[in-house]
Amino acid sequence: MKEIKTVGIVGFGVMGAAIGLNAAAAGYKVVFKELNDELVATMYAKWVVKALEKRVAKGKIIQADMDGLTSMIEGTSSYDDLAACDLVIEAAIEKMDLKIQIFEDLSAACRPDAILVSNTSTFLIEKLMEKVDIQERTAGLHYFFPANINRLVEVIRQKNTSDTTYETLMGFAAKCRKVAITVKDFPGFAINPVFISSYMVLDSFLGDSLNVATLEDISQEALNLKYGIMWVQNGSGLGTCYHAGASMVDYLQGGEIGYPGVPEVLKTQFESGKPWDLEDGEALQNPAARKAVKDSLLGNIFTISTHLIEKDVVSVKDLELGVCTSLAWPQGPFSLMNALGMEESARLVSLAVEKGYYNMPQRFAGGVPEPWEI
Ligand SMILES: NC(=O)c1ccc[n+]([C@@H]2O[C@H](COP(=O)([O-])OP(=O)(O)OC[C@H]3O[C@@H](n4cnc5c(N)ncnc54)[C@H](O)[C@@H]3O)[C@@H](O)[C@H]2O)c1
Repeated sequence: MKEIKTVGIVGFGVMGAAIGLNAAAAGYKVVFKELNDELVATMYAKWVVKALEKRVAKGKIIQADMDGLTSMIEGTSSYDDLAACDLVIEAAIEKMDLKIQIFEDLSAACRPDAILVSNTSTFLIEKLMEKVDIQERTAGLHYFFPANINRLVEVIRQKNTSDTTYETLMGFAAKCRKVAITVKDFPGFAINPVFISSYMVLDSFLGDSLNVATLEDISQEALNLKYGIMWVQNGSGLGTCYHAGASMVDYLQGGEIGYPGVPEVLKTQFESGKPWDLEDGEALQNPAARKAVKDSLLGNIFTISTHLIEKDVVSVKDLELGVCTSLAWPQGPFSLMNALGMEESARLVSLAVEKGYYNMPQRFAGGVPEPWEI
């Protein structure tokens, strides 16, 4: 395991800034890079000074804490100033060519032993790192919005990531008080394939008799949530939801696993520029209609989760922990299956396969399997 003292962040927007503040609070020196000097000043004023002033005003931290944190963070518009960094986290906008270029520049500007990681949501790490000289020092570190509050981090091992790089990142995440899970380089990694397919299946039921309020209510009831899946989509932004869904479909639909499609209604709603109207009427109480939605939602969750295990993307324990931590679900996919019983779970998986969302996972191909060992 390598010692990390200074962390570089490329792109100091919503995610980069929250990641930087989190690292500074854990005692790391942070150097962030933005596109130009004006953005360096604007982002520092917005995400560091103003954000910390608010926390002081609310009594969450004292002035001395704020002074300590601000002294740990500096900004630059030049890659040369990242030469001292032991770890660089890229959090620039989600454009593949731009990210590949950033990693080529980092490979030239950073020390050869500096670890280089991306916080991408949708691209394969191996692809983003193709122009980095030493592949062993690359990986993914996927934070979740809002990165200062959401405790989960996926540590993504691409096929060339060395053990030292992986162990150093696990140690870094732990020191930042994050819950880290280990995930293979896979489209969307582990949590997003579950979450994105869940909202696409739920949204696909939106129509004349099923309104947003009903779908929100069913998702809360099915998963025992305080805030349902329609609400969370509004928080992420429907544009992000739509693009992330389209990207997952590109990667997985028609392949070995399969994936549900992007419902037209999600595209239309995102193009309208408005979030889902969570109060668009009473929630429908018709038990049969509600059960059809609930079965489909759970069947989707069970099937994609089983596929992720069979593809060795993540362990049962880590996916269970990751879903509960990042999405605030009281139960993850495997304890939900065990609680419902494997016979009923097998019925719901068959339903997801019949609907054409997925191919049948091996585990359910021969009938009713044993409960999951979590
Ligand atoms: N927002 C989320 O919910 C979320 C969650 C997980 C991961 N991510 C990923 O994190 C990354 C950042 O997302 P965001 O929401 O913070 O975006 P954002 O638009 O808020 O911030 C991106 C920042 O990168 C800067 N930038 C662009 N090119 C740069 C370059 N060459 N050098 C330095 N800075 C550059 C921009 O000026 C901007 O400030 C994306 O890859 C996104 O997919 C986002």
